[in-house]
Amino acid sequence: MKRLGEEKLRFFKKILKETRKGSRFDQMDDFIQHGDTTVRTHCLHVAQTAYYLACRHGWKVDEASLIRGALLHDYFLYDWHVKCLANSIHGYTHPGKALRQAEKDFELNDIERDMIKHHMFPLTIFPPRTKEGWILVLADKICAMGETIGDRMK
Ligand SMILES: [Fe+2]
Ligand SMILES: [Fe+2]
Repeated sequence: MKRLGEEKLRFFKKILKETRKGSRFDQMDDFIQHGDTTVRTHCLHVAQTAYYLACRHGWKVDEASLIRGALLHDYFLYDWHVKCLANSIHGYTHPGKALRQAEKDFELNDIERDMIKHHMFPLTIFPPRTKEGWILVLADKICAMGETIGDRMK
């Protein structure tokens, strides 16, 4: 996070604070995503990575939407490791579920909706339509790999 620079870091923290306020963001800590990383920590990693990639490469994006969409991309709020039929297709279904939960707590814009809905591409058929959505696809896969491999190295 230090690599973001003071001003960008302050902006990231501001969006994070606004996103946590009055929402169920912190409840994502009750559920594991990969290895021993909770969904909340995973979403923080992904948002930081997505924002870092955009800043590092000078990609012109809606920065607030990029951070918020990434923070909420896995806002599905259930334990997908429980063995049941619904969870066997979690990979395909959770973007839609995360979007429905996020819509309950936030006024999302089109960029954020696109990001959440299409972040599992190419597992799900339709690709993102926004730059922010593509950055999220990339950041999510980088973080998921790091969290999974990192856990196996322990
Ligand atoms: Fe996801
Ligand atoms: Fe994710």
